[in-house]
Amino acid sequence: MFTVRPRTFPEGFIWGTATSGHQIEGNNTASDWWAWESGKIRGGRTSGLACDAWNRYEEDYDIMASLGLNGYRMGIEWARVQPSRGSGSSPDGGSTGWDDAAFARYEHMLQALASRGIRVCLTLYHWTLPKWVADDGGWENPATVDRFAAYVEQVVERLGRYPHLWCTLNEPNVYTMSSYVAGEFPPEVRSFIRARRVMRNLWTAHAAAWQIINSAHTGPGKPLVGIAHNMMEIAPASQGLLDRKIAQFHSYAWNRSFIDALETGTMRGPFGDGKPIPGLAGSYSCLGVNYYLRRTVKFALNGIADAFSQEVIPEGTDVTDFGWPVVPEGLTYCLNQAASLRVPIYIMENGLSDARDALRPRFILEHLEATARAMESGADVRGYFHWSFQDNFEWRDGYTQKFGLVELDPEHPEAPRRPRPSAQLYSAIARANGITDEMIREWLC
Ligand code: GCO
Repeated sequence: MFTVRPRTFPEGFIWGTATSGHQIEGNNTASDWWAWESGKIRGGRTSGLACDAWNRYEEDYDIMASLGLNGYRMGIEWARVQPSRGSGSSPDGGSTGWDDAAFARYEHMLQALASRGIRVCLTLYHWTLPKWVADDGGWENPATVDRFAAYVEQVVERLGRYPHLWCTLNEPNVYTMSSYVAGEFPPEVRSFIRARRVMRNLWTAHAAAWQIINSAHTGPGKPLVGIAHNMMEIAPASQGLLDRKIAQFHSYAWNRSFIDALETGTMRGPFGDGKPIPGLAGSYSCLGVNYYLRRTVKFALNGIADAFSQEVIPEGTDVTDFGWPVVPEGLTYCLNQAASLRVPIYIMENGLSDARDALRPRFILEHLEATARAMESGADVRGYFHWSFQDNFEWRDGYTQKFGLVELDPEHPEAPRRPRPSAQLYSAIARANGITDEMIREWLC
């Protein structure tokens, strides 16, 4: 029994939702995902028009404003603003290939959000690359780091005055795992050796982005910069030695080795080469935590691909449409671990796939209670971005998983968006800046 209590969050707390460019914009035609999707996506679809947010963003922002939300985490698509390599260097020394119209559209989005009083967390890299960058080796090629830095410079120069927060990389662990170890996302590689090379380049790119953004701003109102780190509590299925050891190993590899890398500048564990990465140590002024679930694992002799573990779902646990166990306590655990970096923390993603909206209201209340508990023990959490604003393109799972507070029919992205009941609850939470007795009575009893 997980008891939710009335809670007031600190003044200025951000109540937002999160999305990424490729998952909502539609027609991201110059990206590596667009080139790869055909035949790979569950349900036989491709991202296609997605939510058509590239054209319908004002409608989305109106709904956010009507819900009383004061934050939004959105992505910028590198493939849109630099769809091709260009023809070399321009006279001022910068790369060419920038799409001014795409930048203007993003600027309009940021202005439209600002005019509605919605503060923005801007993600620079959320798993998609321009196809021309991917074709040239993607993150295995150190040249991608320089190209990324040039892209970040452009973004900062053109749009740098808008974001309240910056997310340089979304979930480097999930990206590296899915694209270079499990081989489920493009470029479908299965190699720890190549994954480590990718990880080093990603960290170097992050450090460069941190440097660029951080030095572009001075004085009060300076935006905070961090990565979004996917964290899971990883618990042993039993108190047996092998189960405990495998859970410890997974937890270090997935959670702690990334936090340590930011602090010390050296990435250890299966994703790291154990050698210092220039510029990485201390390259953050906040940390994003993305939390979805707690994994419970037992040792199994199933080889390196499954990392010698087997997942179990403890009896009596609610699971989402995706089969993910709902465990709010895991969020407290992860926030407490993240707090060891001693910087402000933002929950940059937390949510669930739940087409019927049957679990979402309770999920939200319980995860906010879990957040409040971590804050009581010292975690400096400044905001919460629910994943996601609307149903969107869930990568390999296409349109089969419904993560939205707002329902959207993928066959008809032009049809009006329909807030689910949980959106009303989240709206009430944002307006009250916390959880009230009335909410507990109405939604949990
Ligand atoms: C993530 C992913 C999101 C997913 C979400 C649900 O950052 O984990 O960015 O894109 O849609 O996590 O699986």
